[in-house]
Amino acid sequence: MPFRRFFGRGNERARPADAPPDDAEEAGKDDDATAQDDDAGTPEWDAGIPEGQSSATEIEGDWRARAAAVIPGGASTGSKQPQNLFGDAASEYPGHFLRASGCHLVTVGERTLLDCTMALGAVSLGYADEGVTRAVVSAAAAGHVAGLAHYLEIEVAERLCDLIPCAERVRFLKSGAEATAAAVRIARAATGRTRVIATGYLGWHDWSNAGPGIPAGAHADVTRVPFDDMVALQDAVRDAARDLAAIVLEPVVDREPSPEWLGAARSLCDEAGAVLIFDEMKTGFRLRPGGYQEVSGVTPDLATFGKALANGYPLAAVVGRDRVMSAAQETWISSTLAGEAVALAAAAAVIERYDSEGDVCARLGEIGAAMRAGVDAAIRASGVGGVRIEGLDAMWQLRFDRPDVERAFLERAVRHGALFKRGAYNYASLAHGEGDVLTELESIASAALVELMEEGIA
Ligand SMILES: Cc1ncc(COP(=O)(O)O)c(C=O)c1O
Repeated sequence: MPFRRFFGRGNERARPADAPPDDAEEAGKDDDATAQDDDAGTPEWDAGIPEGQSSATEIEGDWRARAAAVIPGGASTGSKQPQNLFGDAASEYPGHFLRASGCHLVTVGERTLLDCTMALGAVSLGYADEGVTRAVVSAAAAGHVAGLAHYLEIEVAERLCDLIPCAERVRFLKSGAEATAAAVRIARAATGRTRVIATGYLGWHDWSNAGPGIPAGAHADVTRVPFDDMVALQDAVRDAARDLAAIVLEPVVDREPSPEWLGAARSLCDEAGAVLIFDEMKTGFRLRPGGYQEVSGVTPDLATFGKALANGYPLAAVVGRDRVMSAAQETWISSTLAGEAVALAAAAAVIERYDSEGDVCARLGEIGAAMRAGVDAAIRASGVGGVRIEGLDAMWQLRFDRPDVERAFLERAVRHGALFKRGAYNYASLAHGEGDVLTELESIASAALVELMEEGIA
């Protein structure tokens, strides 16, 4: 009785109106439930908030309370934790969703929101994309794990080698943090050196983070340098001297780097006999299928991909030159489910779509440009100051000078029907280009901003 276990505990009112009933399994066996299911194809538990029940915000608040009681931070993905979505003092906001389709999600309180975050850039086609869903359902039905590696591992690896400039060999993993940690391990194994120079967010693992619970020694051999800072990069390379194993960088951090800096990263690695690694988690299958290396013409030795690669299914890849990737076999990099076929089937469907549907990345750029133009027009028309749009078209962000104005905007945007990302990228998806989504986005942004002016907040 899985639903009784998960929905039958805690505050009864906190149960979303469209959660399956506690006794869903038993209900499925009786005539009544069958009759309801037949009724216009809408299961009883998908019928919306019954009249007289709690408001959307009350239901969402109850779920947040339940989440806070059982999950530190309220969500397992840091950026989806309520205070990271809306800011510490936010009082009214949704934290959890029931379902998502295209670029819309439905909250536990049955509010539909136009989502500009696209699951932190993990989804570029749209939520519950038909082709991807068909592929994963069929992979699941066919048996997605067994005692041998699945054939899709080979097929997707071959396609990645076609699409990504540096890719001659591929290893799959499940998360971006894992893939980037693996790339660093491979670089160290290939060079027999330890020092690493790093730029950007590279995942949560010890080697790339500092903070409670992380021994200082974990990053003793990692030098962080600011993005696009030539002097810092050169100094760090000089300091690492003959022990430099790798420079690992996010090639885009809020903006594109100068060609000189990226070119210097390449030539400094060449001169030092070190490995250049691009973390293409956000840029891959977004700016170009092959990531920023395809845009810049600077080819790293290794690169890591994830997020849009499988349209939200858990898959990441380390790809790179054979002479470096062969070291993956000299060290131990392995995960039980690294090559499970559901996520690989999703990636195969994504690649197929990118192959068959013209230039998907160019389209994402066009749609992103239209999204930011609409929001920018709303900002200008409202007269709200201290807010601007930055970033690239396919991954853009709203920057506020004042956190209180940002928080008030995000809350009001949700009230009017849109979820924007606080302090980080909003991502274009193909779904944002469908129907009247772009008009909807501008009018929601406009309504939220005008309220800020009317209420004297901005
Ligand atoms: C550039 C970059 N690298 C690595 C990661 C970590 O990926 P994951 O969260 O899948 O572990 C992220 C996640 O946002 C990222 O943006």
